Amino acid sequence: MTIQWFPGHMTRARRQIQDKLKLIDIAIELLDARIPLSSRNPMIDEILAGKPRLIVLNKSDLADPKVTEQWMAYFRSEGHECVSIDANTGTRIGDIVVKSKLLLHAKIERQISKGINPRAIRGLIVGIPNVGKSTLINRLAGKNIAATGDRPGVTKGQQWIKIGTEMELLDTPGILWPKFEDPIVGYRLAVTGAIKEEILNIDDIAFHAVKELCARYWPAMKERFDLDTPPKDLDDSDEIVRIMEEIGRRRGCLIGGGRVDFEKVSVIVLREMRAGKMGKISLEEPLTAMAHLSVPGKGEQE
Ligand code: G4P
Repeated sequence: MTIQWFPGHMTRARRQIQDKLKLIDIAIELLDARIPLSSRNPMIDEILAGKPRLIVLNKSDLADPKVTEQWMAYFRSEGHECVSIDANTGTRIGDIVVKSKLLLHAKIERQISKGINPRAIRGLIVGIPNVGKSTLINRLAGKNIAATGDRPGVTKGQQWIKIGTEMELLDTPGILWPKFEDPIVGYRLAVTGAIKEEILNIDDIAFHAVKELCARYWPAMKERFDLDTPPKDLDDSDEIVRIMEEIGRRRGCLIGGGRVDFEKVSVIVLREMRAGKMGKISLEEPLTAMAHLSVPGKGEQE
């Protein structure tokens, strides 16, 4: 689902999250491990207002593991505990409970020293659309999804989902908006499939994908599409078009007169990249990404 965000929607989303923050001990900020900055809400520090926070890099099955490690180190250097998971298979999702307990350790200890039996930690998952919030909630919940409020006699509203005995999650996540006014952010969200293709032109998205892939993963591109020479200048659009033409010829995407069908090439490049056919790919690294994008909390706020 693609949400068109307008200022009114943002204000409402923000208010909804702020209401939920009153109920919880910790926010779980879900990011896409392939594009942690582009999948981040530009006002997140302000919205969470000092609430303890765990950063979770999701879709790590698709991301370059070396780069994910760099991101974990980066977020830790910024003072945030961070874990990487794959919500689809449930890989390492147990780390969320372990790290949340660690982050709230002092509070739990204080309660114990006062003779209070600590209750389960209460958490809220927040993130932009398509980052994997529902997948993670379902995966963590297992069979413990509470009765929903759609039946008579059951109160509509917040439900807690039990994760073992030590943690509970609000059943509805906090939905945030990305920093979409930055065109690079928009393209990266589209390349990774977070923004549907109807919004941006598919040829443009694939052009951007080919450019980024040639810049970062040329050996994988060369091998996958049997390419000859890398673009001489990544900022020369003719060179990127040349690579797309070469892919089209290799894959038989031709229309009348031997011309390349760019739309077909675009579909192939995006589908194969998203399916991991070119290996595990990250489109942002801490240093290069920061050179282009402002980092929430560090520089410009939206
Ligand atoms: P949301 O609630 O944050 O909006 O996201 P949601 O859980 O609906 O997940 C969006 C898509 O991302 C889903 O694909 C889901 O399967 C996929 N996804 C979530 N977590 C992971 C992960 O760790 N690894 C991988 N590889 N994929 C993950 P979908 O239903 O097929 O949607 P789409 O691909 O058609 O957009």
